[in-house]
Amino acid sequence: MPTYRIAPSILSADFARLGEEVRNVVRDGADMIHFDVMDNHYVPNLTIGPLVLEAIRPHVQVPIDVHLMVRPVDRIIPDFAKAGANIITFHPEASDHVDRSLQLIRDHGCKAGLVFNPATPLHYLDYVMDKIDIILIMSVNPGFGGQSFIPEALKKIAEARQRIDASGREIMLEVDGGIKIDNIAAAAKAGADTFVAGSAIFGKPDYKAVIDAMRTQLAS
Ligand code: DX5
Ligand code: ZN
Repeated sequence: MPTYRIAPSILSADFARLGEEVRNVVRDGADMIHFDVMDNHYVPNLTIGPLVLEAIRPHVQVPIDVHLMVRPVDRIIPDFAKAGANIITFHPEASDHVDRSLQLIRDHGCKAGLVFNPATPLHYLDYVMDKIDIILIMSVNPGFGGQSFIPEALKKIAEARQRIDASGREIMLEVDGGIKIDNIAAAAKAGADTFVAGSAIFGKPDYKAVIDAMRTQLAS
């Protein structure tokens, strides 16, 4: 069985108690924290920046996975790295120089990756696979938590899995958007190993019950 990781998205957490929220969700079994950055430009919503990352960083030891939904991307990458990011991903359409942005993330000591919207083709990977540590497949259009999983994402996850296997490298394959207890197994079957879940976890009072149920599904 692959190593599966569950990455709660703090977009659906209680922002007034963010330190406590990340501590609780890690205590309850989260493997990573997914940190959604939106700029009201690349996506029609505005969220959190490096200051908030710096504030939560001392509360958890697990990797923090920064998902940049911003344009442009390069100027803000060093700030997130310095604030304590472990992984930084961005949308290739939002960068004029995808290869340079990936290198910039690695130069700042983080794992680097590209994010693919539902209609974005995977060919952005063609010439940069050696600079990729993680591929993130969006199963909703980015911008908001609580949307429904777009089933066509399963085909793209499977295609990304083929590319990873062909590369012979260890690359994480993450899925983000509408992941719930009842569809996580399908995403795993398609080839995902890392699962972002916002509303499914933070929308329920008992985080451990949800995370345990997701792991049961992954083991089935
Ligand atoms: C959407 C974000 C997601 C979002 C997921 O643009 O990238 O990470 O928080 O939330 P759920 O799991 O509720 O779809
Ligand atoms: Zn995200």
